[in-house]
Amino acid sequence: MDRQTTRISPADIDRQREFCEQIHERSAALPTPPLAFVDTYGCQQNEADSERIRGYLASMGYGFTESEEAADAIVINTCAIREHAEDRVLGNVGALVHAKRRHPGQIICLCGCMAQEPQVAEKIRQSYRHVDLVFGPHALWKFPELFCRVLTRRGRVFDIADEPGSIAEGIPVVRQSGIKGWVSIMYGCNNFCSYCIVPYVRGRERSRKPEDVLAEVKALADEGYRDITLLGQNVNSYGKDLGLDIDFADLLERIDAIPGDFLIRFMTSHPKDASQKLFETMARCKKVAPAFHLPFQAGSDRILKAMNRVYDRAGYLDKVRRLREQVPDVVITSDVIVGFPGETTPEFEETLSLIEEVRFDALFTFIYSPREGTPAASMPDPMSRAEKQANFQRLVDVQNVISAEKHAAYVGKTLRCLIDGVSEDAGSALTARTPGNRLVRVADGDASLVGQFRDVEITAANTWSLFGKLAGQG
Ligand code: SAH
Ligand code: SF4
Ligand code: F3S
Repeated sequence: MDRQTTRISPADIDRQREFCEQIHERSAALPTPPLAFVDTYGCQQNEADSERIRGYLASMGYGFTESEEAADAIVINTCAIREHAEDRVLGNVGALVHAKRRHPGQIICLCGCMAQEPQVAEKIRQSYRHVDLVFGPHALWKFPELFCRVLTRRGRVFDIADEPGSIAEGIPVVRQSGIKGWVSIMYGCNNFCSYCIVPYVRGRERSRKPEDVLAEVKALADEGYRDITLLGQNVNSYGKDLGLDIDFADLLERIDAIPGDFLIRFMTSHPKDASQKLFETMARCKKVAPAFHLPFQAGSDRILKAMNRVYDRAGYLDKVRRLREQVPDVVITSDVIVGFPGETTPEFEETLSLIEEVRFDALFTFIYSPREGTPAASMPDPMSRAEKQANFQRLVDVQNVISAEKHAAYVGKTLRCLIDGVSEDAGSALTARTPGNRLVRVADGDASLVGQFRDVEITAANTWSLFGKLAGQG
């Protein structure tokens, strides 16, 4: 059972609502409603967290802006996955000192994964004194209380205690889209891949109760959401901590049974837990999109072992084969790291050959970035940055050819796509997504179609996207 996981009680969430009301009264007394700017970095988990921060802010009487100058409160929800991401955040936070000088009452909050790293929190404490509130993912549920403390006492507040992690239900949410919804099904990670910071900042794996997940999906379906993504760092270990005899495949099956016209997606899957049962469930469930994000990270067995990924190349290739056997039209995407400490060029070439063997529809490619406190950060890393960069470029070139070939194969086909927006490109009217989540630029149609499934005939393609027209429109 989930002995380690603290479930935040409804009474504790009610208390947070009281803080919201308290702040709401202050907001209502102002001549115009105060404004908040929520700036989000990182993965979908952070996007989902930001929707809850917005939910709380709306309950506090805040409106929203995208302008740092206009904002009375700025919340920066950060990502710690790579150094580059952190540097960008620190640069932007540093620059906020000017906005605040012009707007002295402004409250600046930094939250998310970087805030949970002790050395970052310390740096903010010492050198970024214009930041008023720092809290990690573990403290998100009590944001109103922390914010209220800053507002009423004008002191700086830090809530960055490390813990295995909790689950809080009933936090208000303001979603960014009325078509696509994120639903976290679990939090944290137990895998400790040797390069990765996530388990240190997001705590241990813990699953939401199936009835809570089902209720959230049902509410989204009832509101007309068309594309629902189940989120977790490793969705395939859903339920292991619940002791309820339900696994991720069972959960998918139950979500698939919820009435409504919507697609179900999920991410991310760790290859070690992507099971035959899951592949068979995907093949059977009508609403589950034929899309699978299955990060492989490296093609060499020695590097996979050093990464603590606990599968080998042959095992990975076997999963891909079995997935395609069950879901023949599945779109497979992946993550890969170039330049892990000690990776030689022949080992890197095994990554290239794996890419050529699998032929992914798209890849997210990263150059290894050392993260303080992870085992890989103290491994010898003799390869120069320039060599890693050259390997990285070779990989991108190989994948671009594959992506273009994969996309070219769509030309002439008609697919039921979700129209998800108005195109900002001069040559197209709308954007849409195929069931496998490939981007389509649609030549015709207007904004009234956004949020609808339409048959789109694919007429052209390049490396990055497909081009099409509404089928039956001449
Ligand atoms: N939980 C997901 C991925 C989370 S992070 C999974 O296990 O697949 C997203 C991606 O960032 C990872 O898949 C990995 O490719 C990359 N990544 C993580 N840590 C990194 C690091 N230190 N340097 C470079 N890339 C990294
Ligand atoms: Fe990081 Fe590995 Fe966990 Fe993914 S599975 S979040 S890469 S430790
Ligand atoms: Fe980044 Fe945290 Fe997600 S480190 S990738 S925002 S879990």
